[in-house]
Amino acid sequence: MNKYAVFGNPIAHSKSPDIHRAFAIQTGEALTYEKQWVAEDGFEAAAKVFFAEGGCGLNITVPFKLDAFSFADALTERAQTAGAVNTLKRESDGSILGDNTDGQGMVSDIIDNHGWTISGKRVLILGAGGAVRGVLQPLLAQQPESVVIANRTVSKAEALAKSFSQYGAVKGCSFDALQSQIFDVIINGTSASLSGDLPPLPEQLLAANACCYDMMYGAEPTVFLVWADKQGAQQCADGLGMLVGQAAESFLLWRGVKPDTSPVISTLRAQL
Ligand code: ATR
Repeated sequence: MNKYAVFGNPIAHSKSPDIHRAFAIQTGEALTYEKQWVAEDGFEAAAKVFFAEGGCGLNITVPFKLDAFSFADALTERAQTAGAVNTLKRESDGSILGDNTDGQGMVSDIIDNHGWTISGKRVLILGAGGAVRGVLQPLLAQQPESVVIANRTVSKAEALAKSFSQYGAVKGCSFDALQSQIFDVIINGTSASLSGDLPPLPEQLLAANACCYDMMYGAEPTVFLVWADKQGAQQCADGLGMLVGQAAESFLLWRGVKPDTSPVISTLRAQL
């Protein structure tokens, strides 16, 4: 049987095995998918053993996405621009390809599941950490009118914007500099939600019909989505669909079939 797994630390609460097993049933693909706890300094050794024993592919989560980036023999363009790898695939010649499906997972969730448009829109991204770096290239590939990256540490937003400037109109700024600007799509990629914090956002940031997306998710709406709703956002969505979306893109890379994410998102939502 073709063998897949997710490596992480911690890993106990990973939903990836449930998601990929549901995809396998849905598409009729014969595979196994397990979660594996890996010691902080043990990624390379564990990955070598996994592939030497015939493993076909891995998902990589915190804190190993940079280790996976170094481990891969070759990288997709989106993994290269993300600077991190969340998917490894053993190719037929035995070499290991590194990919990053987080950004496409988010873009597919936004466009296919929520029916929002990015193309031609004014997009604001909050945060300039690893999560935001991972989604910028697939987002810019949709050809938004402009992308503004706002971050507490302005220099990080500016540096990120500069390194993605060849992919489209993108600039970095502070939260203060958002005063009197208007956006159609706002994406929260800060980790502020994790601690129940909200970045300091000005009023009147949302255009009419604005859509707001949080890369985080939970049983209750995140503080950012509560704020967005109060500001009159037409639609709000959390990142549960991004989680399932990145898994679907990994499944596509490994198996050549793209699963339908919506039934899996519904099942997971009911379990939150
Ligand atoms: P991740 O991998 O989740 O992106 P990260 O690389 O540590 O994690 O980045 C976290 C992001 O959330 C950063 O943009 C951080 O802002 P700084 O660059 O200024 O540190 C942002 N962030 C975290 N807590 C925040 C808060 N309370 N308010 C605003 N931004 C916050």
